[in-house]
Amino acid sequence: MAGNIKLIVCDEAADVAKEAAALFADVIKAKPDAVIGLATGSTPEATYAELARMHKEEDLSFAKVTSFNLDEYWGLDGDHDQSYRYFMNGQLFSHVDIRTWNTHVLNGKAVNPQLECQAFEQKILSVGGLDIWLLGIGGNGHIAFNEPGSSVDSRTRLVDLTPETIAANSDGRFFKEASEVPRCALSAGIGTIREARKIVLLATGSGKAPAIAAAVEGAFTPDCPSSLLQDHPDCTFIVDREAAADLKNAG
Ligand code: GLP
Repeated sequence: MAGNIKLIVCDEAADVAKEAAALFADVIKAKPDAVIGLATGSTPEATYAELARMHKEEDLSFAKVTSFNLDEYWGLDGDHDQSYRYFMNGQLFSHVDIRTWNTHVLNGKAVNPQLECQAFEQKILSVGGLDIWLLGIGGNGHIAFNEPGSSVDSRTRLVDLTPETIAANSDGRFFKEASEVPRCALSAGIGTIREARKIVLLATGSGKAPAIAAAVEGAFTPDCPSSLLQDHPDCTFIVDREAAADLKNAG
């Protein structure tokens, strides 16, 4: 079952970044005050570099753009070098003309996580919802920090991370040891993400191949959270050949 997911298979990871950045640039050019959703992880780094290049060399302006990030580690403040706020500042925000006050990353040190999550949802509503949301995918099929078992209508909330996700984020790219990784995170829900008008999910490398096959061609099930995008009206997966390797119908 492929549902409505549109699949773009690129020869190389660098092409994935170019395709994704072009899609974002199209949205921003058509609507300079676009509301964009952003993701963290290794996968979108090249996309952010390409958007920064387009800002510098092609005058792509983020001056009126509002952004929302998918998630944040619980217990880390924005100055922590493994927080997603810190990641976004370093990878994108400091390289483009987006206004800091228009960037929304959940506060991992909020006094009350429920209120923090409600305020995040309210803010999304108050700006009219998201025009486009960029996603990565976990090896277990998670999106944001919606681990397997997350429901299709889940909202922004405090969640527990699986041992698999903790291990994936302590392989030296981010945290050095599993013991350093927070056990919980604040995460936009699957219902929150599904309300974006356009969704773009990126995956590169063979480690993502089983998750991509399950998301695109497997059952619509909370066991694979990314499969819950199958009935979204405008969802594109941009993957490289390695991440597409387990698909039966890669086009
Ligand atoms: C983390 C993030 C996800 C991201 C995933 C994959 O779990 N919360 O949003 O998609 O990592 O990251 P990477 O691109 O590094 O494989």
